[in-house]
Amino acid sequence: MSKSPIGIGLLGMGVVGGGVASTLDQKRDQLTALIGCPLDLKGVLVRDAAKPRAQKLPHGILTTNAEDIFNNPEIDIVVELMGGQDPAFDYIRKSIDQGMHVVTANKEVMARHGPDLLLAAQDRNVQVLFEASVAGGTPIIAPLMRDLVANEIIGIRGIINGTTNYILTRMANEGADFDATLKDAQALGYAEADPTNDIEGIDASYKLAILATLAFRARVRDTDVFHEGITKLTARDFQYADELGYAIKLLAIANSSEDGVQARVYPALVPQDMMIAKVDGVLNAVEIEADLTGNLLFHGAGAGALPTTSAVLADVIDIARNIVSSVAPPPSLSLSDDVRIRSMLELETRYYVRLTTTDRPGVLAQVGTVLGDLNISIASAIQKEMDDQAKQAEIVLMTHRASEAAMQQAIQRLNALDVVAEVGNMIRVEEW
Ligand SMILES: NC(=O)c1ccc[n+]([C@@H]2O[C@H](COP(=O)([O-])OP(=O)(O)OC[C@H]3O[C@@H](n4cnc5c(N)ncnc54)[C@H](OP(=O)(O)O)[C@@H]3O)[C@@H](O)[C@H]2O)c1
Repeated sequence: MSKSPIGIGLLGMGVVGGGVASTLDQKRDQLTALIGCPLDLKGVLVRDAAKPRAQKLPHGILTTNAEDIFNNPEIDIVVELMGGQDPAFDYIRKSIDQGMHVVTANKEVMARHGPDLLLAAQDRNVQVLFEASVAGGTPIIAPLMRDLVANEIIGIRGIINGTTNYILTRMANEGADFDATLKDAQALGYAEADPTNDIEGIDASYKLAILATLAFRARVRDTDVFHEGITKLTARDFQYADELGYAIKLLAIANSSEDGVQARVYPALVPQDMMIAKVDGVLNAVEIEADLTGNLLFHGAGAGALPTTSAVLADVIDIARNIVSSVAPPPSLSLSDDVRIRSMLELETRYYVRLTTTDRPGVLAQVGTVLGDLNISIASAIQKEMDDQAKQAEIVLMTHRASEAAMQQAIQRLNALDVVAEVGNMIRVEEW
């Protein structure tokens, strides 16, 4: 092979960075054949140089000084796999400013600053690719940016957080409550010690902001995404949902219409016969509805060292091939900056409501009046359980389609009723 090697700088060598470093070594010949020249690891930035590492690295390339990467003229592509906002964003920015291409798996940085970074990269004539930032090893960014560009994307619906899908799958299968399942997931390494970003839907809202921005070619920020987590779900919600023919999934949904873009993450009741209801464990799935293709489902590993390495290396190979054949980076996306973001209150859907009420005649009539006054009609009402001693009953309501604004008001008014001890949960229903 006559072409000189392409230099890679790794920022971070943890779960994913470790997978990338090992695969660059193990698949060296295959990658060289694919690209037309070898990929050489020229620098690896970590926080703690003394930490034992499984990967064998060329002598002298491990560093704790980021400047060693930015100032290394042999590095063509910086692969950012540190995670988090700081200092990852600055390091990506600095790499671009130095004229280096960037591959990143960082959803937080891409959700908050992606469009700015892409513009900066265009100015410097370099590429920033980020396939691994959403759905790990399951390709979704490249399909949106390349394969589906001739389409108008109507909607995106997905399960894009493996940790919560694992927890919800176990709650559904084992009849377990949230707290116990979370603790177990942490002990088994499926949830982090601080699980907030996952269980509150924040991680999924970063990923949905990225997908919605690409799909609708409009700037959708993470702060534009409504998010609600899974912490209020109980074993009884799963039991009742099952009896009604539904699964409960943390869904990320974005739609575009003449009225603007709406993006939302929340646990939802999904009919059990829908494909997405059957996506279990740590797996991810993203369904895209587009005008030319109709519905497409992307389904697979959403995390893990090797699946995520696959996504990272696909981006690296893409850039490396462009370098080898001296192809200029394609123009950056042109995004509309003034898209209207529709508020959650404009949502219209069906609702599941679980109430604990006083067990006496006339309660359901009072509940019905509150809902009726707000134009919410009840599709079914089932009295589920009774506590004779406390003289309390549990009622599960399914509504017809109603507005979110009315539903929010209804929850407040129901909570204020003497006969209602507690509104246990309100879960939106998603059927498409
Ligand atoms: N894990 C997955 O399955 C997965 C899937 C999809 C996307 N991602 C994304 O991939 C990225 C990396 O995730 P990961 O799971 O591989 O993370 P990780 O295991 O925590 O590894 C992070 C690496 O970055 C280094 N690092 C962190 N902060 C640093 C700093 N300030 N200066 C220098 N080095 C620093 C750490 O150094 P030390 O080794 O010295 O601690 C470590 O090598 C994140 O953006 C994540 O969201 C991960």
